[in-house]
Amino acid sequence: MLYIRRLQRLSKLISSASSSNCRCYSDTQRFASVKEKLKQGPGLKDFITESSQSVITDRPFIPYLLENDRIKTKRRVFFDVYGCQMNLNDTDIVWSILKKEGFEKTEVEEEADIFLVMTCAIREGAETKIWHRLDHLRGFKRRAKDRSVKIGILGCMAERLKEKLIEKEKAVDVVAGPDSYRDLPRLLALTENGQQAVNVLLSLDETYADVVPVRLNQDSVSAFISIMRGCDNMCTYCIVPFTRGRERSRPVSSIVDEVRQLADQGVKEVTLLGQNVNSYRDVTQTTEKFDTHLAKGFKTVYKTKKGGMRFADLLDKVSSVDPEMRIRFTAAHPKDFPEEVLQIISERPNICKLLHLPAQSGSSAVLERMRRGYTREAYLQLVHEVKTTIPGVGLSTDMICGFCGETEEEFEETLSLMEMVDYNIAFLFPYSMREKTTAYRRYKDDVPDHIKKERHNRMLEVYRRKCQQLNEAEIGNTHLVLVEGIAKKSGNILGRNELYLRVVFEQTDVLAEDGGLRPVKPGDYVAVKIVGARSATLRGVPLYHTSLCDFYREKQWGERC
Ligand code: 5AD
Ligand code: SF4
Repeated sequence: MLYIRRLQRLSKLISSASSSNCRCYSDTQRFASVKEKLKQGPGLKDFITESSQSVITDRPFIPYLLENDRIKTKRRVFFDVYGCQMNLNDTDIVWSILKKEGFEKTEVEEEADIFLVMTCAIREGAETKIWHRLDHLRGFKRRAKDRSVKIGILGCMAERLKEKLIEKEKAVDVVAGPDSYRDLPRLLALTENGQQAVNVLLSLDETYADVVPVRLNQDSVSAFISIMRGCDNMCTYCIVPFTRGRERSRPVSSIVDEVRQLADQGVKEVTLLGQNVNSYRDVTQTTEKFDTHLAKGFKTVYKTKKGGMRFADLLDKVSSVDPEMRIRFTAAHPKDFPEEVLQIISERPNICKLLHLPAQSGSSAVLERMRRGYTREAYLQLVHEVKTTIPGVGLSTDMICGFCGETEEEFEETLSLMEMVDYNIAFLFPYSMREKTTAYRRYKDDVPDHIKKERHNRMLEVYRRKCQQLNEAEIGNTHLVLVEGIAKKSGNILGRNELYLRVVFEQTDVLAEDGGLRPVKPGDYVAVKIVGARSATLRGVPLYHTSLCDFYREKQWGERC
């Protein structure tokens, strides 16, 4: 199987050398030279030998990175990250790959030889920001006459626009999609001769499982771990399945190893990342357990996966690594919250009780056009089940207004859903039509911009008002706060509660476990009494230093810690 996969990869590589997907921009000589290098690369026997010795499903080497392709001079890279948390984690993966190849990192623009821009394509607004940044970088490159400066575009916008990016933005030297980061050292080496290089091949199995991400922010008490990539859902408005490709999960063992390493480094919170973390499936493993069923009233456009380790199994393993480590996860799809997932979340003190249930709309008719696979009623039923199974649970959501054909009445159903559900966190977006999506082909983007804007403001108003009420209801309660740092301006301590709300309190020595007083530092757990609330922040008074287990033991759950 592995042998066949490698052969497929090799043949893909050969065809891509002369196709538009992986193209080195200079002339036909370049293609000849790529083919020549492929000849020098691994042959059939290398694949057979490897397949008979090993069953590793990930890519332990880059077969087409040859000695001549390695970068010759020391080069300093400046990273620019746009978009979601997945992009932050992908940047750590890129940095890990480049560091190994001798690149250096800088946070000073003037020192940089290479600018790598990790991009987002989800809405037009996200891309507009990146075009502005490219304007700036183009000017920077022009002014840096005495040395060569290269610009690389990575991620979803690279995947969406492919070589059009280079045609449109001549200053760009490298275009690399989300599945081709292993190829970056080679692509960057090619630019040393003044060529431009593109690799936007999507993969069915790339998960970067063997690349240990090197965190750009080593001091942070929290870290992200990508557990799966891509999305099979094909919501009609969304570009993600086209930019990030098919859904695939990373093996459980490599995720657990990474959590363990982070725990050893003193990290206190990990967020499991993916487009749909709760449809996670490690097919390399078998379990005795029953297969997962979709939540009631939910359906998918693809065949539900069978066998293998499921998200509930992963949560079980990850939360058992270190009971003092908080576990979060995002993003999720409401269809994949079966009872066993809710059960394990409710049982484990260190799995944060904040569930992302992106509704996208409160109208069944709009949900149908969006191809979300559920109705308003099924969604509300799930919310009811979640709230009864996990007492004190917080909810977050994503909502879109102004989707194709959305009437005033349909939009009002979204507002009424927001009134009913009590979201602690919501990400609210005006619809932005994306090329390639089903909506682009099938529907008309017929809600005028000013109406989208007005509806967006109305959603924001409901959200802020509701949050203010929810937060005010917390005044007088004691929250467990993980301290993240100190505010530069005020010198106040900043941390987050279990529901990911920011909690602020004054810097002071706090009662310690031994009865004395000690200062508060990042990574500490502190019990904080809430004394003030805004829609996005809570203000508190620190009571005592504690641990996650001690805090919840006192609350009710001791024996589970
Ligand atoms: N327009 C507006 N919002 C979108 N999202 C995805 N695609 C679009 C689009 N074309 C939102 C969805 C998704 C979140 C990550 O971005 O709400 O959950
Ligand atoms: Fe996009 Fe839908 Fe997949 Fe989320 S679930 S990434 S909205 S296609």
